[in-house]
Amino acid sequence: MNYRHAYHAGNFADCFKHALLLALLDSLGRKPAPYFVLDTHAGAGFYDLDADTAQRTAESESGIKRLLHNPRPKLQRYLGLVEQLGLYPGSPALIRSVLRENDRLACCELHPDDAATLRRRFRRDPHVDMHERSGWEALGALLPPKEKRGLVFIDPPFEARDEFHTLTGGLCRAHSRFSHGIFAAWYPIKQMAAVRSFHANMAASGIRDIVAIELHLRDTTNAERLNGCGLLVINPPYQFEEQARALANAVLASFGESEPGAGTTVLRLADE
Ligand SMILES: C[S@@+](CC[C@H](N)C(=O)[O-])C[C@H]1O[C@@H](n2cnc3c(N)ncnc32)[C@H](O)[C@@H]1O
Repeated sequence: MNYRHAYHAGNFADCFKHALLLALLDSLGRKPAPYFVLDTHAGAGFYDLDADTAQRTAESESGIKRLLHNPRPKLQRYLGLVEQLGLYPGSPALIRSVLRENDRLACCELHPDDAATLRRRFRRDPHVDMHERSGWEALGALLPPKEKRGLVFIDPPFEARDEFHTLTGGLCRAHSRFSHGIFAAWYPIKQMAAVRSFHANMAASGIRDIVAIELHLRDTTNAERLNGCGLLVINPPYQFEEQARALANAVLASFGESEPGAGTTVLRLADE
């Protein structure tokens, strides 16, 4: 486990995934019945973008800092929460900030230091359960939730070569336990072959109602670089595709200059 999110917090991928995550949470919050969120790869929760770790890569300079400097109206909700929460909020912090009285969050984090940080932060919080365990196992152990409605957010580090394969298996297993839930899985775009194969496997899985929203920074000619990223969503809320497209376009537009191949896409992988 070499990956530490503190080096990457607030980069363009975080901005994209967190703006879309918030839109999914807001849609759950529109109905009064309580909901449950499982954050399978939670990280440390909050990140100091002035700390050595973040400064060493300076990824937030071309991510959240640029967005805050040039705020787009479509991103107002996300940027407002980031400013309100102070340190850069990772997924568990963002999720926790929008939970209502009877909503619940369960987070899994395997790295002992990040797990300890997260545990300290949520120690006295009755809405949050923190598990220092594998998020892949939790998909079996913590689903289905008693609330019967909710969101499973899967944001793996993609350190392992077979992470797309693990993600496909995890999504299928989890969906078989909680078929009405919303599932959102982040993935990197380095070269398109791996992404197309992931899409094809999900389209062939038998699961209905799957979309993928992608932000491309540039062509994938250099497969060593993070050329973009995507969010695959099962059971997207009503009108989510249009909303996600607008959010992804706003994130991309805030970055200003555009390289060949830059753009956003919304793909429907399986019909309702
Ligand atoms: C991309 S980061 C998560 C960032 C976080 N979701 C956010 O948006 O702020 C991936 C995290 O997964 C953790 N991790 C790696 N393998 C894991 C596993 N099998 N189960 C749970 N966490 C894992 C890593 O330590 C890392 O903190």
